[in-house]
Amino acid sequence: MNLINTVKGVQEMVTSLRKEGKSIGFVPTMGALHEGHLSLVKQCISDNDICIVSIFVNPTQFNNKEDLLKYPRNLEKDCLYLEKAGVHIVFAPSVEEIYPEPDTRQFDFGQIDKVMEGEHRPGHFNGVAQVVSRLFDVIKPNKAYFGEKDFQQLAIIREMVKQLELDVEIVPMPIVREATGLALSSRNERLNPEQKQDAVKISEIILGLSKNWNEYSVNELKRVVIDKINEVESLQVEYFEIVDGFSLQPIQHWPDTEYAVGCIAVFCGDVRLIDNVTYY
Ligand code: PAF
Repeated sequence: MNLINTVKGVQEMVTSLRKEGKSIGFVPTMGALHEGHLSLVKQCISDNDICIVSIFVNPTQFNNKEDLLKYPRNLEKDCLYLEKAGVHIVFAPSVEEIYPEPDTRQFDFGQIDKVMEGEHRPGHFNGVAQVVSRLFDVIKPNKAYFGEKDFQQLAIIREMVKQLELDVEIVPMPIVREATGLALSSRNERLNPEQKQDAVKISEIILGLSKNWNEYSVNELKRVVIDKINEVESLQVEYFEIVDGFSLQPIQHWPDTEYAVGCIAVFCGDVRLIDNVTYY
C-alpha cells in the first residue's frame, strides 16, 4: 500500500495507473475508520482495479470549531486497517495541499440543503462539496463510494456531480450497524459506556416504529419518535424529519412520496449522532 501526502504525488501515480488501463475507485473519508468505512472499501476493491482512500479532516465542513478539534484522528491505526483490507493507495494530504488558496466557492443546492443537516449546520454542505469536488478533481475516479448513513450528503454529492458535469459514478452503500442496531460512526468513539447504551435507543426506536409506520400519520409518527427518544436520559432530538428520499423535502402525508425516509439528528451528551430509516 502506498501512503501519499501530496496532490502532485497522487496525481502522478493515478496518471500512470490510468495509462495502464486501470479503473480507479475512490473512498473519501475523514479517518477514524470503522466497519462502515470497510464496507465501502470492500465494494470499491471488488468493483475497481485500484482502490484509493483519502483521509482528510476537512475544516471547511465544520461549522462548529469544537467539533473539528475533537474529531478523532489516528492516521497510523487507519493505515494499518486499510493495508489489511487490501487498499492500494491512501491519500492523506495536509490542509495546505487541499486548499493552497482559501476555497471561496459557494454552491447552490436549491432546497436540498435548506433542511435537516443543512438547516442545523450552516455551511456544512458547501464545505463537503468544496472538498469532494477538489478530491475528485485530483483523483478523477471512475467510481466513488458514500455511505447512506449520511443520507443528505449523498443527495448533495449527486447534485454537485450533476451541476459540475463530473464523469464519476456515485455508489451508495447501506448503513452498517452494530449488533445493537447503533449506526456505526466515527463519533461513537466519543460516547462513554452509559451514553453508548442510551444511543442504542435511537436506532431501536426509529427502526422499531418503522415496522408499523402505516398505523400512524406522518405527523403522529414524528411526534412519537421524538417523544420516545427525548424520554431517554442523555438524548435530545435536534430534528426528526420524514422526507421524500429524492428531493429531501419534508412530506405531510404518506401518499406525497413513494420513497419516504425518516432522518434524525440526536445529541447524546455533546456528541451529535445521525441515522435514517426508509419506510417500505
Ligand atoms: O462523510 C465524510 O466522511 C465526509 O463528509 C467526506 C465525504 C469524506 C468529505 O469530507
